[in-house]
Amino acid sequence: IKTIAVLCSGGDSPGMNCAIRAVVRTAIGEGLNIFGIQKGYEGLLENNIRELSVSSVGNILQHGGTVLQTSRSKEFRTPEGRAKAARILRSHGIDALVVIGGDGSYNGAMKLHEEHGFPICGIPGTIDNDISGTDYTIGFDTAVQNAVDAVDKIRDTANSHARTFIVEVMGRKSPAIALKVGICTGAENVVLPTATIDYQKIAGDIDRGIKRGKTSSIIIAAEGEEPGIGYLIQKSLKEQFQLEAHVCILGHIQRGGNPTPTDRLIASQMGHCAVKALANGEKATATVFLQGKVVMAPLSTCLRKKNEFDVSEVELLTSLSI
Ligand code: F6P
Repeated sequence: IKTIAVLCSGGDSPGMNCAIRAVVRTAIGEGLNIFGIQKGYEGLLENNIRELSVSSVGNILQHGGTVLQTSRSKEFRTPEGRAKAARILRSHGIDALVVIGGDGSYNGAMKLHEEHGFPICGIPGTIDNDISGTDYTIGFDTAVQNAVDAVDKIRDTANSHARTFIVEVMGRKSPAIALKVGICTGAENVVLPTATIDYQKIAGDIDRGIKRGKTSSIIIAAEGEEPGIGYLIQKSLKEQFQLEAHVCILGHIQRGGNPTPTDRLIASQMGHCAVKALANGEKATATVFLQGKVVMAPLSTCLRKKNEFDVSEVELLTSLSI
C-alpha cells in the first residue's frame, strides 16, 4: 500500500486526537501518504478529504474531541453508500483505511472490506468501553475521571443538605462507566442498564445509610437507551417509598476534556500499531488492549457490542457501601 486514510466515526472520545497523531506520524515515517477524512463516513461520502502532514497533527494530543470531527452516517449503512465511498477513496488513490470508533463504525468498515476489498484497521474509540475483543476503548478512562470529579462535587453539596442524588452517567447499554464510577465514588447503589431496577433494594440502601448516620446517598444510574432514567427512579422512590431525591444528568460533559495519560498512551500505541499492521499487509484487523498490552486482532472478533460486566465489581461495590 502507498496511501492510507484515517477517520473517526460514532461518538467522539478523548484520546482520538492522540490516535490520529500517531497514525499520521507513523504513516509518514513508513514513507506512506496519509489523508484525513473529515466528519467520519458522512464526510467521506461528501468527499471531505485532505492530505495531512507531520504538522497537521501538531499540538492536538492534549485536546479532547477529534480534529477530524465525527458523525453517525445512515447512508454508509447501505450497500450503495459503501460503493460510493469506495469510489471516492479510490479517486484519491487511497488503498487502506484506519477507522477510529465503536462497534457500529467497525461493522461498516468490515462491510467496506468485504464488498470492496479495502484493507481496514480499526482502533477502538468510545467512552463506553463496550467493544468485544478488547479490554479497553480509548476515552473510557477520561470519561470515568470526568464523572468521578462531578460526583465528588455533588457529594459535597449532598452532604451539606443531607440529600440523596441520583446521578445519571453515559454508557447507553454498557454498564462500564456506571460500575467504575460507582466504586470510585462510594455510591450507595448502582443501576446498570441490563438489569431490571430493584427499587426496594435502592430504597433499602438509602434507608440503611440514613439509619447509621450517613449524611448523603448517591445512586449512580447508567442512562440506558435514552437519557432520563434518573427521573423515573426519582418518581418511583417518591411514590413507593416517600423518599426524596435530586437528579443530576452528567451528559456530554463526560465526553469532553483533556484525555488522561492512560488514554494518551494507549491511543498513541494503537495509532502506531494500526499503521504498522496495514503497512505489513494486514487486511482486516483491529488494535486491541489485552492483558495490559496493545496487540492486533482480527476485526471479525471486535464487531459485537460488549455489555457483560465483572460480577466481582458489583460485589465489591455492594460490600463497601454498607
Ligand atoms: O459515544 C457513546 C455515547 O457517549 C454513549 O455513552 C451515549 O449513550 C451516546 O454516545 C450519546 O450519543 P450522542 O453522540 O448522540 O450524544
